[in-house]
Amino acid sequence: MDKNKRRAVIAGNWKMNKTPAEAAALMDALLPAVAGAGCDVVVCPPFVALPAVLDKARGSAIAVGAQNVHFEKSGAYTGEIAADMLAELGVRYAIVGHSERRQYFGETDETVNKRARAAVDAGLCAIICVGENLAQREQGVTEDLIRLQTRVALGGFTAEDLKKVIIAYEPVWAIGTGRTATAAQAEEVCAAIRMLLAELYGQKVADGVSIQYGGSMNAENAAELLAQPNVDGGLIGGASLKPADFGAIVKAAGV
Ligand code: PGA
Repeated sequence: MDKNKRRAVIAGNWKMNKTPAEAAALMDALLPAVAGAGCDVVVCPPFVALPAVLDKARGSAIAVGAQNVHFEKSGAYTGEIAADMLAELGVRYAIVGHSERRQYFGETDETVNKRARAAVDAGLCAIICVGENLAQREQGVTEDLIRLQTRVALGGFTAEDLKKVIIAYEPVWAIGTGRTATAAQAEEVCAAIRMLLAELYGQKVADGVSIQYGGSMNAENAAELLAQPNVDGGLIGGASLKPADFGAIVKAAGV
């Protein structure tokens, strides 16, 4: 399928940065930087900054996402946030299974599946992150691992559910390190993910799913990465906090 039929999605993952007031100020700078975007633009601030960011984003081309979401609707889960709580605020996306959640907070493929399910059931779009670490890449198991992570994350998902799913391929060794995957490496894995989706759901459904690359994507390398046939967007950490850089990435995705 012509990749241009899949609208690119550039999502900024602000991680644990920006107080509500700082987040509002960042939005003031981001809004003009991404004006006229030819792709979907999403920002994912910390939970407590969501109201301030939603307020700024209203009526603009920027959609708002959360960085995580719990799998139960309510209950004794201290410190967690349910999907309905996010949806009621006007949040439209939720990142699920980011490698930092997997590494520091014990997130597993099974909990990623449950969280993604809850997000989609609440009408949110789940940005499901998968990725290998350096040892796994050096052992040559990247493709097997990504297939397994993706397969488990999508357990029980129908073709209809996939309309609310984005897969983000984020090699762990590239996140926050300044060491980006080459365009060929990113394309190879994103193509493998699409092939798996085609095996599971058929080529037509697979062709409709957006697959992002993430890991030190920046204003300089974005155009080459986004030009790859199976790279449909980016999940951006560090550069999403810099309005000019984020704006340049958004422009690179819109051409
Ligand atoms: P980075 O982070 O762009 O700072 O490498 C990407 C991510 O963690 O999503």
